[in-house]
Amino acid sequence: MVKIIGAWASGKNISIWVVGGCVRDWILKRPTKDLDLVVEKGLEEVSRFCSKKWGGTLESFGQFGTKRLYLRSGLRLDLARTRAEIYSRPAVLPEVSTASLEKDLWRRDFTVNAMAVCLNSSAWGELVDHYGGCADLKKGLLRVLHAQSFRDDPTRIWRAARFLGRFGFRLESSTQESLEEAVRLGYPRLLSRERVRGELMRILEEKDPTRALGTLKKWGLTPFFHPKFRWDGGDFKDPEPYVRLGVICLKMGESGKEFLRSLNLERPVSQAISAAFEVAERLASPRMQLPELSRKILVCLIPHISPSALAPLRVNGRDLSQMGIPSGREYSQLLTKAAQAQWRGEFSNRSEALRWLRRLHSRR
Ligand code: CTP
Repeated sequence: MVKIIGAWASGKNISIWVVGGCVRDWILKRPTKDLDLVVEKGLEEVSRFCSKKWGGTLESFGQFGTKRLYLRSGLRLDLARTRAEIYSRPAVLPEVSTASLEKDLWRRDFTVNAMAVCLNSSAWGELVDHYGGCADLKKGLLRVLHAQSFRDDPTRIWRAARFLGRFGFRLESSTQESLEEAVRLGYPRLLSRERVRGELMRILEEKDPTRALGTLKKWGLTPFFHPKFRWDGGDFKDPEPYVRLGVICLKMGESGKEFLRSLNLERPVSQAISAAFEVAERLASPRMQLPELSRKILVCLIPHISPSALAPLRVNGRDLSQMGIPSGREYSQLLTKAAQAQWRGEFSNRSEALRWLRRLHSRR
């Protein structure tokens, strides 16, 4: 694919490179999730060519009309104009202006993410590495390009923890100093809640987020998620990020509810996590079918729980009425007792549940 793009762009006299994380991953011989391409001109033309050639949906966003193409194969292609960034204040989104590839690489977070590979036929596959990214990659060092990097964009602190965790790298010493200074000066506090949430979710998307979270804890960064954020290691048996988040919330108890509200997640997600909270607190089977997400969270928290405990309560008000019990407050008490009994495994199908209910009623 990159060969086809490179050959086509060369014919149009457009210089084009692959940049950032995919170059790092290629050198590390790791699979890449998406492909970031930059051009010094001809952005519209290249994106039109790619979408015509491979199909998929094309989106445009940002001040510079960056293009994102979701290919049918599942690959994501980002196409951007090479640009420089100026941060007027800490943690604000930058002002951008067109610039050379060299400046575009300079605006990036870490040297290992600031390399490019040329796709043009004349320089096919040539590595552009102005800032020593390849050497750092080989040494396993994460190094910022300049001392203001974490001040400009404090999300890079979370990114650092994520990359250290994923690749087992170390922080280069002056990078460590500027990171610590950025934390001391409270720059992470200047980030919007959405950006912090975005970084947390990206950590929870990692194959194993344990080391990244441990690193953030060590750096004193977890209170930026929530002042009472608590995480005691492990918990990531399920690969789904929202399940992992739900488990963290439930383990935080009451503060977890506040934390969940503060994240302002999409309604179905926050409702599913809240439903898991409710079931775990009442130690009772749910009255209605639980969303898949709630069930997965509870299975992670209570690994030996039976599927029956998480199934909807096998009896209902109509059963009570058919037993001749007059409707009223007693209904709710009986159903709560039944839900707790189902949770404990005292019955596992509807006929056993009805027998259990009759026995309970006859004893009253
Ligand atoms: N980048 C940056 N500063 C940020 C975010 C991104 O400099 N705060 C740059 C880096 O060069 C990065 C590239 O934009 O490599 C693409 O960003 P992203 O896709 O978020 O990062 P990847 O490095 O591709 O990480 P991942 O493998 O987790 O997708």
